[in-house]
Amino acid sequence: MADVIIAPSLLSCDFARIAEEVKAVEQAGADWLHIDVMDGHFVPNLTIGPAVVSAIKKVASVPLDVHLMISNPDDFIEQFVDAGSDYLTVHYEACTHLHRTLTAIKHAGAIPGVSLNPATPPEMILPVLSEIELILFMTVNPGFGGQDFIPSVLDKVGPIKSGLNELGKGCLLAVDGGINEVTAPAVIKKGINVLVAGSYIFGSPDYRKAIDSLR
Ligand code: DX5
Ligand code: ZN
Repeated sequence: MADVIIAPSLLSCDFARIAEEVKAVEQAGADWLHIDVMDGHFVPNLTIGPAVVSAIKKVASVPLDVHLMISNPDDFIEQFVDAGSDYLTVHYEACTHLHRTLTAIKHAGAIPGVSLNPATPPEMILPVLSEIELILFMTVNPGFGGQDFIPSVLDKVGPIKSGLNELGKGCLLAVDGGINEVTAPAVIKKGINVLVAGSYIFGSPDYRKAIDSLR
């Protein structure tokens, strides 16, 4: 399963030493860097904005996978793309006009992703599947690192895969929340391509060992 993409979530890194943490996980084999943007409205937590994404971009050498957990994401697409987002993911639940939002992300120059909260049925995004390049299944309720994996979320992968097959379309499938060496195997078996992991990697004394154990 060497082709699984590992995206450490910087939410759990030492914020006083972000540049060093970025270098450390890159040297440990990180394929992407996952950046969690929270607004205290869509989710009950506040994290970072475009200025910090742009600072990370200056020291990063792998793609930035930016996860917007914010209301009205349309208002910030350009800023986050200009800051250096390679993948820009919005939440289905935060978008009134999802098709328009995905088009705007592409026009701004990033690869568009859509995230689904654990309680959101996969069918909600089937009508716009052709516009999506990455689907991020939340395996916890978004807002915090270190929560327990919700296994029933994996039941959503089947319907999405059928939809993609019907379209004859490829799409990256990602999971976010509670990913560790115990939960990763079932996820990979489902055909997920991208594993986001925060507390498991940054809470480990050996980042390389932690990353390798997920593959
Ligand atoms: C949660 C964030 C995640 C978070 C995952 O809302 O989207 O990216 O960092 O943390 P862990 O891996 O600790 O569950
Ligand atoms: Zn995330």
